[in-house]
Amino acid sequence: MCGIVGYTGNHQAAPILLDGLSRLEYRGYDSAGLAVRNGEALAEVVKATGKLYHLADKTDQGRSLIGTCGIGHTRWATHGDPSVTNAHPHVSGNCSGSGSGSVESDVVGVHNGIIENFAELKEKLLRHGYRFYSDTDTEVAVKLVDYYYKKYRIGPIDALTRTMVRVRGSYALALMFKDYPGEIFVARKDSPLIIGTAEDAAYLASDVPAILKYTRHVYYIDNLQAARIAPGSVKFYDLNGDEVSLPLTEITWDAAAAEKGGYEHFMLKEIHEQPTAVRDTLNSLLKDGQIDLSAAGLTDETIRSLTQIDIVACGSAWHVGMAAQYVLEDLVKIPVRVELASEFRYRSIPMAENTLVIVISQSGETADSLAALRVAKERGALTLAVVNVVGSTIAREADHVLYTLAGPEIAVATTKAYSAQLIAMDALAVQMAFARGAISPEQYGHFQEELSLIPDKIRRVLEDKERLQWFSSKIVNSHDIFFIGRGLDYAISLEGSLKMKEISYIHSEAYAAGELKHGTISLIENNTLVIGVLTQSQLFEKTVSNMVECRSRGAYLMGITTNGNFAVEDSVNFTVYVPRTDEHFISSLAVIPLQLLAYYTSVNRGLDVDKPRNLAKSVTVE
Ligand code: AGP
Repeated sequence: MCGIVGYTGNHQAAPILLDGLSRLEYRGYDSAGLAVRNGEALAEVVKATGKLYHLADKTDQGRSLIGTCGIGHTRWATHGDPSVTNAHPHVSGNCSGSGSGSVESDVVGVHNGIIENFAELKEKLLRHGYRFYSDTDTEVAVKLVDYYYKKYRIGPIDALTRTMVRVRGSYALALMFKDYPGEIFVARKDSPLIIGTAEDAAYLASDVPAILKYTRHVYYIDNLQAARIAPGSVKFYDLNGDEVSLPLTEITWDAAAAEKGGYEHFMLKEIHEQPTAVRDTLNSLLKDGQIDLSAAGLTDETIRSLTQIDIVACGSAWHVGMAAQYVLEDLVKIPVRVELASEFRYRSIPMAENTLVIVISQSGETADSLAALRVAKERGALTLAVVNVVGSTIAREADHVLYTLAGPEIAVATTKAYSAQLIAMDALAVQMAFARGAISPEQYGHFQEELSLIPDKIRRVLEDKERLQWFSSKIVNSHDIFFIGRGLDYAISLEGSLKMKEISYIHSEAYAAGELKHGTISLIENNTLVIGVLTQSQLFEKTVSNMVECRSRGAYLMGITTNGNFAVEDSVNFTVYVPRTDEHFISSLAVIPLQLLAYYTSVNRGLDVDKPRNLAKSVTVE
């Protein structure tokens, strides 16, 4: 996610802004920028790509930017590749170039979030004479505020509240207006934003760490509220522009805890960010309420021409492919192969005409996946990248790219990026099936409705986390854990097993339940934990039978199934339930308890959950 900071007071703003941004680096970013104004003078905007120290060097550690009021930003690209031009702050003027320097603009601003209807708003503004220098949704938002500010000439809060009514999506906006020196105006919906106060200063930030050094007295601005901050003063407004009051909160966290939003580890924070990551990814694929892949460049005509889909990835991304295979085969009705990238790149796989190779990668930099992408292109396949990092190598080299909007993922063990990939692949399968006439309009509507309910259902699964925390304390000394399932449940078992072993270091294996009797069942001993994923109704009884075979050899059984399947408790020792949903998409729910179980087991074993031994977040070497 992007990071926002703001300051107005008696001290030079730039060094304070740079310090605040440095404490938001954990949020992940690819560029950064500052806008500082010196009294009546217009804001000076400086931006840089890459790490924050490039921006600090460009401004002589902030000393070259004179002024006591300013805003700053670290950008995690969602719309528009990482570049100086796309970096924030953005300005309302029709300037050429990158929007840097002393800007002749009435409004300059920064934004964290996703403006979903930015394209239609951009069209509107173009019709009113605005010109755009960047590819970002943020420039559209800043120019829309300017449009209302000039049209109604009432003031910044009026312009902001009109913008809030017009915009769809999520935002934390911080803006400076030429006519209001020393003041900063903010607006918030769904993206985090806090306001800090001190005797002769006021601060704003996306998160507590950025201002904890200066004040522990903060306001948590509510959704659809705006605020006006000046040195030592803060006023809040509702959507009607009426002044409202908010309680002042004292922060008791230390800085390290604050970076994790109060969670003990980034992994737990990211597990809880999954409803938002899934919702944002899904929303990015919708246009007027329908799935729309035009942003990925996949036309219905191209989709109808396909004869084969190969999915290539590593690790958890490969597990997404394994799950997607079942959904694609069932809905789209064409052959789907899933290959480990490290194998695909060396195999001489005959490539059928009109094959689509989908490369799934959170980082977009995994060496094996990148090599596999290049091999696929050499063999004449059409390629689609499903990645989380805008502008990453895999994203740039694939013919088409479909971005997940999970935001930066800090923990080595992926959770929210995995879930975002899963929902993206489900949406892709539904759209492909409809484009090829493999499903009816009624089915299309049903599947879209079911997908839209997934974020809230994930939230409901997370509410059950204490039971998993309790169960993890029972299994903390396990030596071997087996995850089994059939069909989609097998694909989820793979991810559950990887999560467990990569952060708890307990040996674990995932097995297609029907395979146990072909060897592995010899490993089952007294109290060996066998975890069965049981969400596929057609396969439920068979997997339960496999689990009972294990229990008859001494195994301890945990089952994950859907609400209402209470009969399973006659067979297993510990059951976790997830909400019912269309069985094509239930993987998004069944994986959550497995993530939590792995997390709590690792914590109970006193291990470094976020940075497990021997592992890297992105394996950029072979
Ligand atoms: C999963 O928790 C691991 N971090 C690892 O398996 C990861 O999924 C794999 O290395 C692929 O990374 P990518 O998605 O960035 O390509």
